[in-house]
Amino acid sequence: MPKKTTIIGAGNVGSTAAHCCLRLELGEIVLLDVGADIPSGKALDLAQAAALEGHEARIRGTADYTDSRASDVVVITAGVARKPGMSRADLLHTNISIVEQVMSKAVEHSPQALFVIASNPVDVICRVALQSSGLPASRIIGLAGLLDAARMRAELAALAGVPVHEVQGVVIGEHGENMLPLPRLATIGGIPATSLFSAEQLEQVSQNTVSGGARIVSLLGYSAFYAPGMALALMVKALLGDSKSIMPCSAYLKKHYGAEDIFMCVPVRLGAGGVEEIIQLELNAEEKNKLSASVSNIRSGVQQALKVTAG
Ligand code: 2OP
Repeated sequence: MPKKTTIIGAGNVGSTAAHCCLRLELGEIVLLDVGADIPSGKALDLAQAAALEGHEARIRGTADYTDSRASDVVVITAGVARKPGMSRADLLHTNISIVEQVMSKAVEHSPQALFVIASNPVDVICRVALQSSGLPASRIIGLAGLLDAARMRAELAALAGVPVHEVQGVVIGEHGENMLPLPRLATIGGIPATSLFSAEQLEQVSQNTVSGGARIVSLLGYSAFYAPGMALALMVKALLGDSKSIMPCSAYLKKHYGAEDIFMCVPVRLGAGGVEEIIQLELNAEEKNKLSASVSNIRSGVQQALKVTAG
């Protein structure tokens, strides 16, 4: 039985994620949005692109949630994106109600699905999704550190003058201004970044990582979509393939990293069960201190959000 993924939100991020899922040959894709024309037009374009890209394209566009029935994975990109000068947190009030409505309809038609959420502020939105859906927390995963680490890797590859696939990096914490790039864990060709670059150079890499999304928003007037789209597709691939991959994602934390009852980006193992393991990194005092800023920021966002949802 081919796997089925529904992507809700046919904007730049959602349709790029659909394209990446098709190119990775992840099975049937349903692209869903409030009106049928945009998802249907993008699905048709993607099917025609497949003729040139040499892969099958089992994709349809729709506005009807019954088309999403029995999805294995549901990706939620619905909601408004940042404009120049906005933080991800500024999207909270608008996106809460959109994601709540989307989640309830998606869960109704795919009660066993794994849910990958990209809507921002993603750490808080994941907690709202948990509250409103009643799903097991392991089946809700937020797009965060995989995207942020890609930005860090691109910065390090440019600095080192190496192909980016030879660079590995880790980013944890909130998917926001308090995110915590960890250059001491980054490697270039297996060599620790700290052996190749000065503390000042790595600090600049970290700053460029944190501002990576905002720089794109200021240049384009809207948020990034190529990297977010591929990051979502790689998360879907890990879930559908039960890969047991370790990736930095926003996951529900009960006792790890000094956090409790919030979603925050940490290294997790992804498989058919969703978040199958939380990986506890050993952090130094400075990193723990910086991470606590993420925890308190997310916690206050959750408190605000749960007040809004409580009505
Ligand atoms: C970003 O960082 C959309 O939050 C996403 O580009």
